[in-house]
Amino acid sequence: MISLTEIKKLEPIYSGKAKTLYKTNDPTKLISEFRDSLTAFNGGKKSEAPKKGYYNAQITRKIFVMLEENGIKTHYVSMLSDVDMVVDVVDIVKLEVIVRNIAAGSITKKYPMPPGKVFEKPIVAFDYKSDEYQDPMINEDIAYALGVATFEEMADIKKIALKINELLKAYFEQNGFLLPDFKLEFGRRGPNKEIVLADEISCDTCRIWDKETKQSLDKDVFRYDKGDPTQTYEIVARKLVPEIFK
Ligand code: TMP
Ligand code: ASP
Repeated sequence: MISLTEIKKLEPIYSGKAKTLYKTNDPTKLISEFRDSLTAFNGGKKSEAPKKGYYNAQITRKIFVMLEENGIKTHYVSMLSDVDMVVDVVDIVKLEVIVRNIAAGSITKKYPMPPGKVFEKPIVAFDYKSDEYQDPMINEDIAYALGVATFEEMADIKKIALKINELLKAYFEQNGFLLPDFKLEFGRRGPNKEIVLADEISCDTCRIWDKETKQSLDKDVFRYDKGDPTQTYEIVARKLVPEIFK
C-alpha cells in the first residue's frame, strides 16, 4: 500500500454532476474532487456557485469522520486538498437511499402529505440510480430482479441508513438545524463486498432547515431560487466546520 503522504492524483475516470473521480497511484484508492457546479431536476437546471465544492467537501469530511467514530463504515480516507477527498475504491450500489423525517420535496407532491409533517417513524425509500430512467422508486424485489442488490444487502443498507439518520439528526440538532431528509449512496468494499457509506453528505444531498425559522439551508435555495447557494452553504459550514474559518 502506498503511504497517504505519497498519494497522487492521476487521470479523471468519471465526471458526475458535482464531483469528478480520479485514479491515484494506489489501485485501492480514488480521489473525489468536489466541484462548484450545481444541478437540479435531473440536470435540467445548471449553475456554478463559488466555494460550493469547498464547503461540501469539508462538510462531508466532518460528517464522515463523525459517523466513523460512531461505528459507521465509510469510503472516506483523508483529504489531499480542500476539495480533493481520498476514498476507497468501492463498487457503487446503483441506489439512491432516501431517508425522511419531515415531509418536504417530492413526497409532498406524490402523496397526500402536507409539507412540514413530522413522521412518527423515519421513512426509508430506494430509488434506482439511473439518469436514463430518471431515478424511479424501487423496492427489494425490483432491486433483486435488476441485479442491483441482494436481499441481504438491501436489509443491511436499510439498517445502516436508519442508524446514520439517528446520528445525523442529533448532530444537526446540536448545531441548530433540522434534517427533514437526505440521500445516501453505498458501495461494496474489498473481497468481502462489505457495504460502506460512499458519495457525500452535504448541502447538495440533504434538506437542512434552521431549527427556529425553518428557512432552507441547502440546495432547495438553488432549486427554487430562494437564495444565494454560496452564502447559504456558508451558514451551514460555519456551524459544522468552524475550523475552516479561523
Ligand atoms: P426529493 O424530495 O426530491 O425526493 O429529495 C429527497 C432528498 O434527497 C433531498 O434531501 C435531496 C436529496 N436528493 C439528492 O441528493 N439527489 C437527487 O437526485 C434527488 C432527487 C434528491
Ligand atoms: N437530481 C438532483 C437534484 O435535484 C440533481 C440533478 O438531478 O441534476 O437534487
